[in-house]
Amino acid sequence: MSTILITGANRGIGLEMTRFALADGHTVIATARDPENATALNAMTRITNDLSVRALDVADTASLLAFAAETPEPIDLAILNAGVMTARGGVEDEGHDLAAWQHALTVNVAGPFLTAQAILPNLERGTNPRIAIISSQMGSNARAGGNAYPYRASKAGATNVASNLATELKPRGIAVGSYHPGWVRTDMGGDGADLSAEESARGLLDRFEVLSLETTGVFETYTGAAMPF
Ligand SMILES: NC(=O)c1ccc[n+]([C@@H]2O[C@H](COP(=O)([O-])OP(=O)(O)OC[C@H]3O[C@@H](n4cnc5c(N)ncnc54)[C@H](OP(=O)(O)O)[C@@H]3O)[C@@H](O)[C@H]2O)c1
Repeated sequence: MSTILITGANRGIGLEMTRFALADGHTVIATARDPENATALNAMTRITNDLSVRALDVADTASLLAFAAETPEPIDLAILNAGVMTARGGVEDEGHDLAAWQHALTVNVAGPFLTAQAILPNLERGTNPRIAIISSQMGSNARAGGNAYPYRASKAGATNVASNLATELKPRGIAVGSYHPGWVRTDMGGDGADLSAEESARGLLDRFEVLSLETTGVFETYTGAAMPF
């Protein structure tokens, strides 16, 4: 059984991945920006000793340092899931202002990079260590939809970070992949999305199980279909 880190685990796909990982018998370190108000996670800690809930804001240096200091254990799988959506319109959408660009690029691109950097010593002591970055098909150049500019660019950046980490960390024994979770009914995906968070989370965890040094650098969907970059 593995020790799995899941960021942004207090709601949405991260919360469902936490539920399934625990049901599969793993030990989970689930992070939330505001752990005191992570109601669903805190309820789970009352029925299992295999879940630890810790504070982490992936866009805050002090929070990253505090999380690393409070996390001494080896990590086998790091699921870098925390992310934000910004305005979804075309080029003239007033939501695409500088603050939106900074927010999307900081949380969705720098966030997974800085988290991976913070926990690299833990991964190097892990068994079959892997990093899974939750990206999106919206970041694929082959699927450029002509809208949601900061979000799409940020997810292209997230996939790029995963590819570069895969290259650099392969000789150090750490496999890295990036994943499209599907269009999922969460606060981000909305009620009209295709998939439940349960379906997406189950598929993603199954894909992470087969991530290896042989397949490192993959960009694929929650069903294992290859995504164009
Ligand atoms: N839903 C979809 O259809 C879809 C499709 C493609 C990709 N994705 C990606 O899948 C991932 C999960 O999405 P979701 O649908 O579950 O979204 P969600 O329901 O909006 O949840 C987002 C999670 O990220 C956390 N988060 C946001 N900013 C953070 C920060 N600075 N530091 C740490 N955590 C932060 C949130 O914490 P708070 O509760 O504190 O805000 C929350 O736990 C995201 O990376 C998203 O881009 C989703």
